[in-house]
Amino acid sequence: MTRRSASRPETGFANDRGANILAARGDFPVLDQVVGGKPLVYLDNAATTQKPRQVIERLCQYYERDNANVHRGVHELSERATWQYEQARELVRDFINAAEHEEVIFVRGTTEAINLVAQSYLRPRLVAGDEILITEMEHHSNIVPWQLVAAQTGAKLRVVPITDEGELVIDAFANMMSERTRLVAVSHVSNTLGTVNPVAEIVRICHHYGVPVLVDGAQAVGHMPVDMRAIGCDFYAFSGHKMYAPTGIGVLYGRRAILNGMPPWQGGGEMIRKVSFEHTDYADLPSRFEAGTPDIAGAIGLGAAIDYINGLGRENIAAREQELLALATEALQGQPGLEIIGRAPHKGAILSFVLQGVHPHDISTILDREGVAVRAGHHCTMPLMERLGIPGTTRASFAFYNRDEDVAALLRGLHEVREFFK
Ligand code: ALA
Repeated sequence: MTRRSASRPETGFANDRGANILAARGDFPVLDQVVGGKPLVYLDNAATTQKPRQVIERLCQYYERDNANVHRGVHELSERATWQYEQARELVRDFINAAEHEEVIFVRGTTEAINLVAQSYLRPRLVAGDEILITEMEHHSNIVPWQLVAAQTGAKLRVVPITDEGELVIDAFANMMSERTRLVAVSHVSNTLGTVNPVAEIVRICHHYGVPVLVDGAQAVGHMPVDMRAIGCDFYAFSGHKMYAPTGIGVLYGRRAILNGMPPWQGGGEMIRKVSFEHTDYADLPSRFEAGTPDIAGAIGLGAAIDYINGLGRENIAAREQELLALATEALQGQPGLEIIGRAPHKGAILSFVLQGVHPHDISTILDREGVAVRAGHHCTMPLMERLGIPGTTRASFAFYNRDEDVAALLRGLHEVREFFK
């Protein structure tokens, strides 16, 4: 490992690749710009991460040299596109330690993955009075698809509570389980609070009662090692764009035995084996759930993002992000009138806060004038805001490429906010 300057605290990087983390910011062209006369400080990584040159170049390379449809042609370009698309699936399988590549379904993102499970897995199994268990900290994408299927079938949602610190009440999973519970859906990392939920433990509890579990991994998978076989969940959903890959591509992981028993969700080309006007035989996994021309470039870009993350090491990314979280938490804690929302001991690098007397939208507007990009509002977690009794928060969310100076810029911005409202 290279020597760090005397002022930088020890980071606990897991191995020598950790040193590369600090230099890797240079891989992200978009970060090197001035907005409104101020250097850009990008702290909205939970909404979407920026893309490294390696991913952007991979997309260009694909479109410049290899573009063709997949699984359809025998010509050279189609073979190349198909190989790269399937190679990306294998990269995803390895990245999340799924047992088989057929368990990796390419979708548009987390939202589509959850809707697929709601409609294909759950809908045929629900009757009136059945229950779906979610939690108070879920994103709308892990609430509304279940409400839709509940409305279609007469099932009901039940909601596991959180503590004031923003942790799940784990005992509630067992206590709220009934013989009518058909599925549990829970986020791995809360996009608003940053809480990292003990998903392996939750899966163990739910499986004890014979209930399958879907984990929303959108805020986890690019930031920490994630292992399907260790977690043991039945479904895991995530988006590429929150892990340095393009928008429009994501993954539904499902255990093979469960996916095999699910009917197609969308019909069209690619998902069939044989079609007549009377009857259609469906394709095997994973094609059965990938109707139509997929986002081929997106999948290849996701593979490039995985290569990129693997090159840095997820344990190193996690260590650097924890360092930034600790630095920012310590800095914000000392600010007058500021309250951090989400104080779980185990958090991802997401820092939500409220400032007495100032609306989050006003804070983010003034921060923007200082070049600091954050998100403000309900963060697609309106029921969580209601539970916490606040209209919204300002949220700074970090990626490994953020610098210590970015935290200092956030503090300077908050000083401007205070001056403005003095
Ligand atoms: N789910 C994304 C966020 O939390 C968009 O900002």
